[in-house]
Amino acid sequence: MIRFDILSLFPEMFESPFHYSILKRAKEKGLLDICLHNIRDYAEDKHRVTDDAPYGGGGGMVMKVEPIERAISSIVHHRDDVLIVLLTPQGELFNQDIARELSSCSRIVLVCGHYEGVDERVRTCLIDREISIGDYIMTGGEIPAMVVIDAVSRLVPGVLGNDESVVMDSLSDGLLEYPHYTRPANYRGWQVPEVLLSGNHRDIQAWRRRESLRRTRLKRPDLLKKADLSGKDKEILESIKKG
Ligand SMILES: C[S@@+](CC[C@H](N)C(=O)[O-])C[C@H]1O[C@@H](n2cnc3c(N)ncnc32)[C@H](O)[C@@H]1O
Repeated sequence: MIRFDILSLFPEMFESPFHYSILKRAKEKGLLDICLHNIRDYAEDKHRVTDDAPYGGGGGMVMKVEPIERAISSIVHHRDDVLIVLLTPQGELFNQDIARELSSCSRIVLVCGHYEGVDERVRTCLIDREISIGDYIMTGGEIPAMVVIDAVSRLVPGVLGNDESVVMDSLSDGLLEYPHYTRPANYRGWQVPEVLLSGNHRDIQAWRRRESLRRTRLKRPDLLKKADLSGKDKEILESIKKG
């Protein structure tokens, strides 16, 4: 069971993405809980102001520290059990290893920035971890938060029907996954590889490993440098290189 608390100026954005398919089922089974909090509800002044002009001048607005601090204090009572994450393009690059690490947390608070981002004191005084979903700038932290929730939730035990697919997924062992095919075996002359129809489990496993190594070498050679490869894998790669 994992609980996400989302702090956002636009919590309505989260209303539909988790109402379908696997994550909907996970919520119904009580494996996933998503709680939305509008940062504006924690602004105390008459106009419920959540942003202000930057000290030192310059364009854009900065999200104020007080409403975010009040929101966190009111929803987090025992700091030890909770990981507080800021979505920011300046954070560590999100990947499958981080998703796996986060999937062992019982509760994660996600703070979504907007405009020029949040007052630096949010980062220095309130946050445990900063996460970026990639080297590009989005308008707000809501879609990045959705990406993190989706990737983390599917790794929570019981969320996927077939737990094997988590183990075999691309990147779970540092390589891209082998190709998949389903019926029909022949469509317009586009044939499924013979070995997959053979019923020979050992040959199928060997073919899948080879394809996984081949496509990782082709599409993401950077991954091969970090992957934990056996002697046999290295032999296969050599033979792929020789063509
Ligand atoms: C326009 S961005 C602000 C960028 C900020 N001025 C900077 O240069 O770091 C507004 C908000 O969108 C979110 N955001 C934008 N790009 C992101 C990314 N690649 N990963 C995670 N969050 C991102 C953050 O919450 C950020 O506070």
